[in-house]
Amino acid sequence: MSDNAVVIVSSNSEQKRNSDVNYPFRPDSSFWYLTGFTEPDAIAVFSNKNYSIFLRPKDKTKEIWNGKRLGVKAAPKVLLADNAYSIDDFLKSIHKLINKNHLVYFDNSSTNKLNENIISILENEIKSLNPVISEMRLIKDSTEIQNMQTAANIAANAHMIAMTKVSPGLYEYHVAAEIGAEFRTRNSDHAYPPIVASGENSCILHYTENNKILNDGELLLIDAGCESLGYASDITRTFPINGRFSKAQKQIYQIVLSAQKSAITCIKPGEKVNTPHEIACDIISSELTKLGIMKEPNNLTEFYMHKTGHWLGLDVHDVGEYKIDNDFRDFKEGMVTTVEPGIYIHKNDKIDPEYWNIGIRIEDDVLVTKDGHHVLSKSAVKEVKDIEYLMSQNIT
Ligand code: GLY
Ligand code: MN
Ligand code: MN
Repeated sequence: MSDNAVVIVSSNSEQKRNSDVNYPFRPDSSFWYLTGFTEPDAIAVFSNKNYSIFLRPKDKTKEIWNGKRLGVKAAPKVLLADNAYSIDDFLKSIHKLINKNHLVYFDNSSTNKLNENIISILENEIKSLNPVISEMRLIKDSTEIQNMQTAANIAANAHMIAMTKVSPGLYEYHVAAEIGAEFRTRNSDHAYPPIVASGENSCILHYTENNKILNDGELLLIDAGCESLGYASDITRTFPINGRFSKAQKQIYQIVLSAQKSAITCIKPGEKVNTPHEIACDIISSELTKLGIMKEPNNLTEFYMHKTGHWLGLDVHDVGEYKIDNDFRDFKEGMVTTVEPGIYIHKNDKIDPEYWNIGIRIEDDVLVTKDGHHVLSKSAVKEVKDIEYLMSQNIT
């Protein structure tokens, strides 16, 4: 960063849910990444020489009603900042830190409320902070990897608890509650609204109503992940509600599992980031053709309409480019990607009814290591025999 450049990044403000109730606050991911601070209404300003933080001042009455604040006095030591100011003095003090000639790096695409205020007072030349910070966030250091491993362990465990609790007659929300309880018990929470999708709902990619009864003979697809110190896991498992895969369910499951395992196997530094998707598509399309489900060579997207993975980190769909100069980039040590192929077969008169309403996705979180990869979520069972064994240990 040149000497006349500054970075301004904000944590966002609380968002109203209704009346005087706010949504639970979660800071902007890049602000969290750069500061480790989790309060709303904070703005950090970095130059080559100085790190300043604007934050909410101590306030006895507000702290009694709404919780403690770090405050201006304690902030430099706790946040390792050079200076701290009250956010109420932002307009007054920002001009001490930057002048008209500074080039400002700023996330000008964010709808963050604080950012809208900042942009309205800046007269400076502004450059987007996103490309710079995205490349930094894309490569995880050892502390970040530790947090992601914790998030993966908690979510993997929650998926296996769900497998032991499911039976016909329960509702999707009962299973969602088991998963949420496990997250909260481990001092974690959902990284995104959980998908607990049974029967035909398993074919709806972003199903979140989670309110249908679980029927004997149907599959249950659960896509649920949690956050640990801001870092997400993103895991999907699919299993039979009665504990035993039907022949048709098992056939489709084995195709997705084989596509997923082969896609994971190729991941290593130097491999192109779209290779897992190409491998998964090849396997799914040739196997569905063999079963007579896919009748035209080009209609894979009827059954598999999403990508095989995405970056994972502070955001579940994390920042970072997939292409550089129009070409898929290479995997590098420290990247984390999901690998999540699926097959979704809607009711269709041209397909044998035993395959209808089979929606299967298997999703793991994969760290690129120096020599290959490490599956952060590998403790969540996914072999047919392991799932059926675990489900036979039904603990109600
Ligand atoms: N849970 C969202 C996704 O799998 O991309
Ligand atoms: Mn995902
Ligand atoms: Mn997912």
